[in-house]
Amino acid sequence: MIFKEKQVQENLNSAVDSKISTSKIERLRVCTLSDKMQELLLRQLKHELQNHNIYRTFANFFGTQGLAVLEEYYRLRAEEEKLHHDWIANYLNECDAVYSYPEIPAVKYELNDNIVPFQLTVDKEIETTMLIYEMVDLAQEEKDWRTWKWLMGDDNESGRLVAEQIEEETISRTALDIAESDGSWLRKEKSIMNAYKNDND
Ligand SMILES: [Fe+2]
Repeated sequence: MIFKEKQVQENLNSAVDSKISTSKIERLRVCTLSDKMQELLLRQLKHELQNHNIYRTFANFFGTQGLAVLEEYYRLRAEEEKLHHDWIANYLNECDAVYSYPEIPAVKYELNDNIVPFQLTVDKEIETTMLIYEMVDLAQEEKDWRTWKWLMGDDNESGRLVAEQIEEETISRTALDIAESDGSWLRKEKSIMNAYKNDND
């Protein structure tokens, strides 16, 4: 009987030992994120900053035409991109990930039509959704439940990337619908801002 209990204990010990390798524990002491997850988070940080710069460019495009409401709309959208960047930068720090800021590509769109920025915004947001979903997939694959919980969270302070992204994509599609409808831009810009504000209340 005593021998049996000893055997069970030994089996349990070896089962625990075999599941988590020493090298993994040593790596997790330095940073809680895998190299791949750090890479994707840094890619996202860069992407959010790039979106910020794109939306600021659109704000300039509309502002210089005297469409002050659309200028403000894109300024606010840019602020949100900066916030998403902050969430990621803070999360990387929290996880002890060491990184340097990547180069942000210049904005090189030809803006020759008022509808183009709205089309580009929808495309950008779809791309952003796909990039965020790749991080969710990886977190699940790696059983990195801390990152998974952070991605799926609903906290304006620490982050709510997935939930926020659903909202961003939806408002971008609504804004494009309004932009493509008939009517003067002075009327349409007010409708776009109303849709945006109601979404954010
Ligand atoms: Fe974003």
